[in-house]
Amino acid sequence: MTARDTDDQIPTSETRETDDTATTMTTPELEDGLITTEVQTEETDRGGRPDETVVEARNLDVYYGDQQALRGVSIEIPEHKVTAIIGPSGCGKSTFLRSINRMNDQIDACRIDGELYFHGKNVYDDDVDPVALRRKIGMVFQKPNPLPKSIYDNVAYGLRVQGKDDEVDLDDAVAEALRGAALWDEVKDKLDESGLDLSGGQQQRLCIARAIATDPEVILMDEPASALDPVATSKIEDLIDDLAREYTVVIVTHNMQQAARISDKTAVFLTGGELVEFDDTATIFENPADDRVEDYITGKFG
Ligand SMILES: Nc1ncnc2c1ncn2[C@@H]1O[C@H](COP(=O)(O)OP(=O)(O)OP(=O)(O)O)[C@@H](O)[C@H]1O
Ligand SMILES: [Mg+2]
Repeated sequence: MTARDTDDQIPTSETRETDDTATTMTTPELEDGLITTEVQTEETDRGGRPDETVVEARNLDVYYGDQQALRGVSIEIPEHKVTAIIGPSGCGKSTFLRSINRMNDQIDACRIDGELYFHGKNVYDDDVDPVALRRKIGMVFQKPNPLPKSIYDNVAYGLRVQGKDDEVDLDDAVAEALRGAALWDEVKDKLDESGLDLSGGQQQRLCIARAIATDPEVILMDEPASALDPVATSKIEDLIDDLAREYTVVIVTHNMQQAARISDKTAVFLTGGELVEFDDTATIFENPADDRVEDYITGKFG
């Protein structure tokens, strides 16, 4: 396991639970709010267009020490659509995903310039609480990472750390999230068994259930099916299609067929951390504007 893999696991570790609980207890006024002070909700300074963009990067640069991983990335990610991020290894796909919900904060060497908006609010402003942000923008990783707890407790986890377990009927909320993740029928009779005893594909759907239990708006997925067999992969793909009805999904995949199958929009990053083209998935795969994208899609490099 590399240092990066370890970083990816951080928010679901037991330590993190303590952090989240502490935050929830010391700032109960946060509830669902993203930030600790008033939000500027007017859109006039963004041109007054209808707010269909949920996440927007403007001139985003990301560095690890002296090395630049993303260069001037600007993109508008539409609400309730599946946006695929593709590109060769090391081009900054995971870095971009982590910059959306500030997971890069947990990497000491990482520095960010430029802007990243969530509903028009720059998530890097000082008044944004990253823990609250990550409840709105959940994440699912390549390697399923259930907590060493029962299936039920894995899904109830986020609601408990938010202190929502008094407000909602936990049993109902857990069942709803498991249904939403297309896992309910397979686990309804064994909710008290360990999440770690499920198959890889079931574990990944459990992680998706955990992510949606806290009612996020955006779900970031970093190669969520690449460790799974074809049957489990196809279940995850069907699930992503369903999730987009309720959530905005941003998914990194190495699998071009998968991107073509499941996404509405595709962003192509190329080596050096540049976003080279972003368009409707059909356009990217059938008639890309940039020759480098065509070469990449047709397998000439990458
Ligand atoms: N924690 C880190 N510390 C230092 N450098 C990093 C870190 N994470 C990523 N990088 C570097 O940033 C660049 C982009 O990495 P990133 O993981 O975002 O690429 P990727 O497109 O997701 O690649 P892959 O397809 O292999 O997952 C690479 O050069 C990588 O070595
Ligand atoms: Mg990656």
